[in-house]
Amino acid sequence: MGLFSFFNKEVAMDLGTANSIVIYNDQVVIDEPSIVAVDRTSNHIIAVGKRAQQMAGKTDNKNVETIRPLRGGVIADFEMAQHLIRELIGMTNINRSFMPPSLRMVICIPSGITNVEERAVRESAEQAGAKEIRMIHEPMAAAIGIGIDVLEPEGHMIVDIGGGTAEIAVISLGGIVCNNSIRVAGDEFNENVVEYMRKQHNMVIGERTAEQVKIKVGAAISELDEPPEDYPTLGRDLLTGLPKEILVNYKEIAHALDKSIARIEQAILDTLSATPPELAADIYRTGIYLAGGGSLLRGLDQRISSKTKLQVHIAEDPLRAVARGTGIALKNFTKFHFLIR
Ligand SMILES: Nc1ncnc2c1ncn2[C@@H]1O[C@H](COP(=O)(O)OP(=O)(O)O)[C@@H](O)[C@H]1O
Ligand SMILES: [Mg+2]
Repeated sequence: MGLFSFFNKEVAMDLGTANSIVIYNDQVVIDEPSIVAVDRTSNHIIAVGKRAQQMAGKTDNKNVETIRPLRGGVIADFEMAQHLIRELIGMTNINRSFMPPSLRMVICIPSGITNVEERAVRESAEQAGAKEIRMIHEPMAAAIGIGIDVLEPEGHMIVDIGGGTAEIAVISLGGIVCNNSIRVAGDEFNENVVEYMRKQHNMVIGERTAEQVKIKVGAAISELDEPPEDYPTLGRDLLTGLPKEILVNYKEIAHALDKSIARIEQAILDTLSATPPELAADIYRTGIYLAGGGSLLRGLDQRISSKTKLQVHIAEDPLRAVARGTGIALKNFTKFHFLIR
């Protein structure tokens, strides 16, 4: 342990639209959904993370509202985002010691957020005790987490499909050369599933059930080499109002997600055509790297590969690639000149 880390604490935070991860001492110490439960009568924060998620739609208290402050890749709710950041830092317990340490932080933010939003994130971290703060944009952190040497003069394409946004970026020499962020990602896939079940099966399902369907039988293509088993899905019949169960096949979900995935493909093609030729030549050799939870969709790599005629690689543990990269950025706090002050 170096002298700095003995007297000081260092924390890396991936502030995702769906999940937030905190790394401390090289370990993931917090991995929680980015959700805050608040009592609207008193504005009192009741819970954050998994505990808040469990309350969604299940509490008898009408005043309890569950909020995802970063929904859509922007800070939709400033105040709640600040609570989320403070609570996440609080949950690590690092500030509980007798002498509060000097806290150094790197925070990963969606690349679509504005300067004002960025400042709000910084202020929340300061209020939670951070003294030195740097920020990093999501695709850059993903690239680092994948193991790419981002300082090299070589182009790499990253596609990070999270909850609220798909972020497509070409990175070279420590900078984001081309960048495209669209609001088509995991949340929209869930909405596609809800819509499909209603239209096709006359069945109402909640968002969390839709997410389970997506995870169990989600697919980007309708011919998989290793198809998952049909998934028994519970919901309410639209006509009778009674609970019912439907077996859902992956081909149905591939159909339900088709249009959304096509929009991600189009954004990738647009970014490729905006890429300077030298970097495009690099990408032709190295291919496309996928990260984020959305990259776990069965057959997505195959589909993007046949659309772009490029190799597609999925990051190891894609849900944590960005957090890993943010952790590496923390260790290169002074070396990585591209970190945002
Ligand atoms: N196995 C899976 N198949 C498809 N989507 C998944 C899978 N696992 C998680 N997801 C989706 O990934 C998204 C979260 O990804 P994440 O990278 O954590 O997002 P963010 O960075 O925006 O917080 C959610 O929409 C979730 O439903
Ligand atoms: Mg993310």
